Formats: sequence, C-alpha cells, structure tokens
Amino acid sequence: SAAEKGGYDYFMLKEIAEQPKAVADTLLGRIDGNGRLTLDEVRIDASALRETDKIVIVACGTAFHAGMIAKYAIEHWTRIPCEVELASEFRYRDPILDPRTLVIAISQSGETMDTLMALRHAREQGSKVLAICNTNGSTIPRESDAVLYTHAGPEVAVASTKAFLTQLVACYLVALYLGQVRGTKWGDEIHSQIRELSDIAKQVDQVLETMEPVRELARSLKDKNTVLFLGRHVGYPVALEGALKLKELAYMHAEGFAAGELKHGPIALIEEDLPVVVVVPSPRGRDVLHDKIVSNIQEIRARGARTIVIAEEGDEAVVPYADHLIRIPATPTLLQPLVATVPLQVFACELATARGNEVDQPRNLAKSVTVE
Ligand code: G6P
Repeated sequence: SAAEKGGYDYFMLKEIAEQPKAVADTLLGRIDGNGRLTLDEVRIDASALRETDKIVIVACGTAFHAGMIAKYAIEHWTRIPCEVELASEFRYRDPILDPRTLVIAISQSGETMDTLMALRHAREQGSKVLAICNTNGSTIPRESDAVLYTHAGPEVAVASTKAFLTQLVACYLVALYLGQVRGTKWGDEIHSQIRELSDIAKQVDQVLETMEPVRELARSLKDKNTVLFLGRHVGYPVALEGALKLKELAYMHAEGFAAGELKHGPIALIEEDLPVVVVVPSPRGRDVLHDKIVSNIQEIRARGARTIVIAEEGDEAVVPYADHLIRIPATPTLLQPLVATVPLQVFACELATARGNEVDQPRNLAKSVTVE
C-alpha cells in the first residue's frame, strides 16, 4: 500500500532514501567514545582473529559486489590475504580451507542457498564463518560461528540498495576491527578511517539531495540499448553494481569493466553516442589511479562515447571530458563506494520507470533465491 511505501511510488525509492539512516544505524553502538571499534557480537575470540592467515568472502549478486570492495579494505588495513568468490562457484572447486581461514558470508536475506551451502562447506573443513546479514535469526547467521548484523531494516524491493550500503559498512567495520585487533602498521590510518566512517551518513544524504540531474539524464537515455560502466580499484565493483542494477531494473544490456581492461577488448564496443558511466577515484588519495582513469575517459570520448562521469567535488581534471558530470562528496578512497553507488541506483530506478518497468518486482527475479 501507499502507506507502507511511506509516500514514495516504490519501495525502492523509499529504500534509497533510507540509506543515510541505514548506514548510521549499522554504525550505532559499534564505535566507542575513544574512537575504537567494539564488535562484541563477533564472538570469534581475538586470539583466533590474530591467528587468521587467510580470509575468504562468499556471496551472491549485490552482496558479492560488497565482498569485492571488502577485499580492497581488508588487504590494505590488515595485510591478510583475502579472496572473494561467488558462493555458487566456491565449493565446487575444492577450495583450500583450514581452521586459520576466516570465511565471511554476506547475505541480505540470510537464506540464499548458494551462500548457505558455501558456508556449510567451509565449516566442514574447520574454518570459522562470520556472517554479515540483514535478517535476524535467518539460516545463514544461525549456522555461522558469529554474525555482524547490518541494520538496514526490512528491504522489500528485489533490487538491493540500502542493504548493499550497510553491507559495505559492515565490511569496513570488520576490516578495521581486524586491523585494530592485530595492531597493523596502519594504526593511525585505521583510527582516522573509523572517524571518517562515523561521519559518512551525512555524505550519503548530501548525494541524495543532488539527484535530480541524474534522473533527468536517465529519462533521456530511455531508448538506448546498452550502457557501459567503468571503474578502477574500488570503483570497479561499483561499476559492476551499477551495471547489475541496470540489468535488473531497466532490462538493458549493461556491463561493468575494470577501466584498465579497456584496451584488452571493451574499447571495441565504443561507438558514437554510447553512454559510458565512469566512476572516478579521488584525485587526492592515489593520484596515479586518478590520472589513469582521466586518460581512459579521454580515450573513450575520442571514439565517440557519451561520457557520464561520477567524480568528487573539486575534481577539475575530468571537466573537459565529461558530457555529463555527477558530483559526489570527497571521501577517503576506500570509502568512496558508499557515495558513488547511490547515483547509479537512482539512475537505474529512473530508467526502469521511464521504460515502464515494474520497479519493485522486476521480471524473472526473486528477492531471495532459496534454490541452487
Ligand atoms: C537475489 C536478489 C539480489 C541479491 C542476491 C543475494 O538475486 O535479487 O538483490 O543481491 O539474491 O541475496 P542475499 O539475500 O544473499 O544478499
């Protein structure tokens, strides 16, 4: 009913709007007055966490993209090797698991069969499993050694939005917590990132306030057949998520690529007026990364692409090459997906509406896939 949707036309719109609160709620009570993380819920004791020598993340769909981003954060802040794998592939390839492997299973519903089977397999090999889940008491957290709940609240729209942002927050918390427990050489950075994270909901809110041009752009592209998405570093999984949202909602051919792979194939797809969304990393953090993507934008534009550039406020280097410029607030490099994903959700939702699609219940899809 309209009341359930809180005055919005679709649950998805309501859930997109709820993201600042979902992010803040997921942080609530997990950072103490001294800016340290207190994750008592992670019942895996600190000594076991100190001994962990490998992390494997398993998930499906949007949760898998959160896992891909988590890998960048975990390896950078903890120096523990981390793999991410689609749950549906994981147990069929005889993965190397032992009691010092920490497996992280990410699932909004807690009922996805592939993810559940992956975690069962991991536990049979003696590995510890930490679930990141949005649904209290669901099967995946019940069968795990520990659980860090995301506090997105119920997500009704099939295409995941607020659950994704809270999965990212939970992944950052786990990564920073591991860094804290293990006392890595990144101690100061960990401290400052916790502070930045505790402030991030405001920036998500800021993005939401500036989405009208994105909606307008989406409507103008409603008769296109293809949209490509490019990113580097954590912007790469964001590109994959942007493409997934567009497939799910707009039923358009959408593909995400690592921008560095352009020359190895995707650039052959560029033709006159093809919309290409590019997620640009902060020009402050790692400038090499930023410079490389600016030249990628130049390359595709020279071949006729219509460039839709998502870049940090104050990033002037992209201006000459952006046919459409979507501004996001400045964040630390690793946290950027929390703000960069939001315009892509709005973009896909508006395109779906413009194409007359059912936003909350896309054809052929289910909110939770409980069969293999
Ligand atoms: C389905 C949903 C996706 C979701 C995926 C994983 O495909 O349509 O939105 O990302 O399942 O779901 P989970 O509940 O495990 O996060």
